Amino acid sequence: MKIVYHEESKVFHLWNENISYVMMVLPNGHLGQLYFGKRIHDRNNMSDMLELAVRPMSSCPFPGDRTFSLEHVKQELPSFGSGDYRSPAVEICQRNGSRICDFQYQSHCIEAGKPKLPGLPATYVEDAAEASTLVVNLKDSVTGICAQLCYTIFARGGILARSVRYHNEGTETVQLTRAMSLCLDLPDCDYEWMQLSGAWARERHVITRKLVMGVQSIGSLRGNSSHQHNPFLVLKRPSATERQGEAIGFSLIYSGNFLMQAEVDAHHTARVLAGIHPDTFSWRLEPGERFQTPEAVMVYTDKGLNDMSQTFHRLYQKRLARGKWRDLARPILINNWEATYFDFTEDKLVQIAERAKECGVELFVLDDGWFGARSSDRAGLGDWVANTTRLPRGITGIAERIEDLGMKFGLWFEPEMVNEDSDLYRLHPDWILAAPQRAKSHGRYQYVLDFSRKEVVDFLYEMMAKILREAKVSYIKWDMNRSITECFSASLPPERQGEVYHRYILGVYDLYERLTREFPEILFESCASGGGRFDAGMLYYAPQGWVSDDTDAVERMKIQYGTSLCYPISSMGAHVSMCPNHQVFRSTSLHTRANVAYFGTFGYELDLNRLTKEEISEVKEQIAFMKQYREILQFGSFYRLKSPFEGNQMAWIAVSEDKRTAIVGWYRVLNTVNGCYTRLRLEGLEPDFCYRDRQSGTSCYGDELMNLGLCTTDSTAGEVTEGKVPCTDFESRIYVLEAENLPGN
Ligand code: DGJ
Repeated sequence: MKIVYHEESKVFHLWNENISYVMMVLPNGHLGQLYFGKRIHDRNNMSDMLELAVRPMSSCPFPGDRTFSLEHVKQELPSFGSGDYRSPAVEICQRNGSRICDFQYQSHCIEAGKPKLPGLPATYVEDAAEASTLVVNLKDSVTGICAQLCYTIFARGGILARSVRYHNEGTETVQLTRAMSLCLDLPDCDYEWMQLSGAWARERHVITRKLVMGVQSIGSLRGNSSHQHNPFLVLKRPSATERQGEAIGFSLIYSGNFLMQAEVDAHHTARVLAGIHPDTFSWRLEPGERFQTPEAVMVYTDKGLNDMSQTFHRLYQKRLARGKWRDLARPILINNWEATYFDFTEDKLVQIAERAKECGVELFVLDDGWFGARSSDRAGLGDWVANTTRLPRGITGIAERIEDLGMKFGLWFEPEMVNEDSDLYRLHPDWILAAPQRAKSHGRYQYVLDFSRKEVVDFLYEMMAKILREAKVSYIKWDMNRSITECFSASLPPERQGEVYHRYILGVYDLYERLTREFPEILFESCASGGGRFDAGMLYYAPQGWVSDDTDAVERMKIQYGTSLCYPISSMGAHVSMCPNHQVFRSTSLHTRANVAYFGTFGYELDLNRLTKEEISEVKEQIAFMKQYREILQFGSFYRLKSPFEGNQMAWIAVSEDKRTAIVGWYRVLNTVNGCYTRLRLEGLEPDFCYRDRQSGTSCYGDELMNLGLCTTDSTAGEVTEGKVPCTDFESRIYVLEAENLPGN
């Protein structure tokens, strides 16, 4: 990996073995973009990559010169108003009302490693040799605003991380009304746009469409990154597949309102922007103050979508997630939510835990309903004191009983919320986000606490820390069950109300930071009515997140498959739940439910006491299987093999680092009669290893499994076979392939 600056041509070239990123100081002093893609040679005069041409009707800054126009030049920090009519990366409203700015190159520095982003989640390095960072300093001389553009290239993988820091070195206060984290001007638009979108209980479905002229975008104005759109985007060449071809993935490490867009202009260039959504953002920058944007990560590959995903997985697993749990296989848990909802006593919980322990479960998680007057979702939120009618000796008591069983104890919180019917709201009605003299909208009968206020965050910290100091809690599920409305903070002046959404999320990050620092042993799982805030920002604090409130195995195929485009398997909370399923009322076999959940952090969300003896033995086998293979399932190389968005079947595979073990998950939604011959071409195996299928005992070489494929033809469909359970709908299989010790491997 290297970053060079060619003084004469004023060109910056950042490269590693996978990618090159080339920029130059343009003739007008702005920073221009020349190239991002597969690694190319470095040379002294790369500035000739700058294409200048006379375009009729263009606005030009240099008198007499019609070739240089900001309307056409590719830029790193474009602003609006001086000839560039595309969406800008920065907008600053000045005292005189002007929004024109002119960010000129001042200086730059190149450093080993990667600096931290104050108050924000970001990728990091453990050793300065893992990455190099270029900081380019630009300045708008009229306002005195400086923009530090920060680019980090990692030694391994086609990864470039970017962010911008603004510093008011002038004498007047300005209003930053747009501060995108990333702008990438691509020279052509021959791409397909892929987004992960959906709704509550239907999160992160893959949607692909052709990039067309005009603006296409995804975003959130809900205060959380949202169930509807994930802050992740891919531009792929139309011919690119999972296995080959060019793709660029864009991921924003942020959990609040965001915008990701691509704008194709009249000359078919494409401008990609990613950052805080400007519609709900306005930041007052007083002289001397700084503003840091969130970080955006770009991953380029010419080896297909799966390579892009693996690059994100490795980065987010090892250099975004932090703490003790980052590298550890995750405990198999049981959560009481779908087992009891609000209807539980301590004894009932312990009974569930006892049966779970007998099956091999390691962690018992007490979900919503353990505190205050919380017997339904109408009351009690905010009162983080155990309800002693249900839990006579409080959290300490139940935690002890669970620990005595030989299990760990986990606890649910929803720190950001309050019910109107709660002691906290009665004491501090002004602590919620609400606009004066306006009606307050509720969501699930609750209001959103004003996390932009330090005293609110401090209070929640003390409430939570008190419980965690007293009781033995090993896991926290941090929920967030509604989006923000009437976003107004009673503590901020009118000119700072545009800061509330961002300050809110900074408050959430602050609370996470303080809790993870004081309680480094605790495993955090983020959650927002399922996957409403499943984003890279959260992964910095909580290495796993509840993927979706939909626990149906068939629905989960699409959700987990889509999620895997960016996020690692170790980050995906996935549980086996009761049938008929509580969301879609579908019944699937116990093995299919587990076969889907294995490709996640794995756990149960049901009362095991309601299962038959046979089912309990099956659960025991599932848990033993997961314990044996979870390292590979959660941390191995993951490949998508068959998309549930394209047909009746889905398949994926996780391969161990040494390639000696591979676990294939194969799933079919509806059964077919007298179906076709089907083979699954595997990925990631060692061609020369001979793999034995643990179940059937057959052996094949890796090359055969990857080229001819694993036979998945179902010979029983269409016939009733005596003594054998026939295949039916929602069928699935797990193939465990282990390399045999033949001479040569
Ligand atoms: C929403 C979560 O996604 C569920 O798993 C559960 O924790 C409920 N909230 C509890 O209110």
